[in-house]
Amino acid sequence: MKANIGITDKNKQAVVTVLNVLLADEHVLYTKTRNYHWNYEGDNFMEMHKLYEGQYDELAEIIDEVAERIRMLGHYPEGRMKDFLKLTRLQEQDYTSEQNEQVKNLLADHESIITSIRIVINKMNDTWKDAGTTDFVTGLMEQHEKMAWMLRSYLR
Ligand SMILES: [Fe+2]
Repeated sequence: MKANIGITDKNKQAVVTVLNVLLADEHVLYTKTRNYHWNYEGDNFMEMHKLYEGQYDELAEIIDEVAERIRMLGHYPEGRMKDFLKLTRLQEQDYTSEQNEQVKNLLADHESIITSIRIVINKMNDTWKDAGTTDFVTGLMEQHEKMAWMLRSYLR
């Protein structure tokens, strides 16, 4: 049954298109963070292992919330790895066990997600009239800002 929530079909479709790309980005960042949780080597092993675990747990929650937000708009989220890889704006790098490289790669991805959310927020609210999703992605942006700050604090 159609979601009759006061947003036009065209606007819902526009919002869902943005959310599916965000969903793809979150999956790539989740996988990268988990990869580093497994493959870190260095003096700070346990600290980084745990830091990455906390972040990928948070990203797993975000993934679920983004997908369910798409369902609330009456659409279907993407759900296949090949679709996420097609849609994502993020890059996967070669394997690395090195802290600085890992932290820089993760930070760049968080900052890219933050920037892309910030760019689309006004359109989401003013053009597509979706106050709910605007509020939702603003909260996600803040979560990414906090994760980015923590990663950035390891770099000088
Ligand atoms: Fe683990």
